[in-house]
Amino acid sequence: MRGEGCYLWDEHGHRYLDGCGGAFVANIGHGVREIATAMAEQASRIAYVNGTAFTNEPVEALASELAALVPGDLDYIYFLSSGSEAVEAALKLARQFWVESGRPEKQEIITLAPGYHGNTLLALSASARPHYATYFREWIVDVHRVPAPVAYRCACRGVDASCAVCSGTALETKILEIGADRVAAFIAEPVGGSSTGASVPRADYWRTIRTICDRHDVLFIADEVACGAGRTGTWSALEPYGVTPDIMTLGKGIAGGYVPLSAVAAPRRIVDVLARGSGSLMHAQTFSHHPVLCAAGLATVRYLREHALVARAAEMGRIFHERLRALLELPHVGDVRGRGMLAGIELVLDRDTRAPFPRSAKIAERLTEAAQRAGLVVWPNTGHVNGVDGDIILLAPPFVIEPAQIDELVTLFRVAYDDSVAGALATT
Ligand SMILES: Cc1ncc(COP(=O)(O)O)c(C=O)c1O
Repeated sequence: MRGEGCYLWDEHGHRYLDGCGGAFVANIGHGVREIATAMAEQASRIAYVNGTAFTNEPVEALASELAALVPGDLDYIYFLSSGSEAVEAALKLARQFWVESGRPEKQEIITLAPGYHGNTLLALSASARPHYATYFREWIVDVHRVPAPVAYRCACRGVDASCAVCSGTALETKILEIGADRVAAFIAEPVGGSSTGASVPRADYWRTIRTICDRHDVLFIADEVACGAGRTGTWSALEPYGVTPDIMTLGKGIAGGYVPLSAVAAPRRIVDVLARGSGSLMHAQTFSHHPVLCAAGLATVRYLREHALVARAAEMGRIFHERLRALLELPHVGDVRGRGMLAGIELVLDRDTRAPFPRSAKIAERLTEAAQRAGLVVWPNTGHVNGVDGDIILLAPPFVIEPAQIDELVTLFRVAYDDSVAGALATT
């Protein structure tokens, strides 16, 4: 297998357009030598030191770069490897903060549904993906959920400022129902990932959430593992909303897929409570703050800046969405949504009623397989409508994609659609 830019070649020499960056990861494209060189140089200088004994140059440099890129005062960065680990650490940070602030009764977590935050047990608990938890229910922590703002799936279609779901006020109702003195944190994806098919909340949504969280002393954790690092055309997906969360998680694209790297960003006012109390976050991991991983992250962040790739994600994103919207002429494409280099295409049985296909038709899976046969890699998601039905295809190509390659992507999508959706209908 090898990759270059937006393309992948398998061991048989078949070429694929990487339409989803693997899993929203390959932001800068495949085969960038600068990143490989930075990793090799760091590995030969010092590959590993434990974070409890020493800090190291790439950790410090990457933390400074990221602190300048994330919103507001999130100046303290803790590096891990996967998004799930970052979510676990962020939730534990929120909990430890409240205990050390003398408010141990604040222990409840609220999340959005649909939503996804990872697969380790606390992150899985926060994720509204019941089928992922099938065999592990006894070990899952109870969390509270409010409906995610998915305009296409809401009766108001996202246009009613008084709609509790689309405006965000549903969160306040939930907090009051639980009792604000018991709620530790609200965790959510600022722009939806695969669970909602890249749904973009209304312009006032996150300000309302911020106000509600402030009013009730609830920590707002923005999970930008999927939508951050420039994916939506701004460095953080929250940026256009002008809102600073209390904690932010990052992952996937921050090292472009060259290494597994994730991060938790928090402000001094939270970190200091722990520093004055027990001393530190109770969350040591052998491979946190890894020099080689952070060297890859640093090289990726610098590459993004030097090639103005976030601005490019915004600019190409406009072309990308304009061309994708043409797919709405296909009879079973119900909605095309997203921002920047992140798009969700929702497939429905009936466009007038928005009725999903029956799960047995396996539309998203069939389309994904047909796309791969045609030479396009896409990311499927199912079950967002009612926990069972619902078919979404996610697209998240590298930011270096060219307009001609966007056209190629759309053409290959049509081939896959004809090859799968039409065939599936004949057998349903
Ligand atoms: C929003 C979000 N949070 C957390 C995760 C978990 O990340 P990982 O798979 O790296 O553990 C994901 C993964 O898809 C995600 O999309």
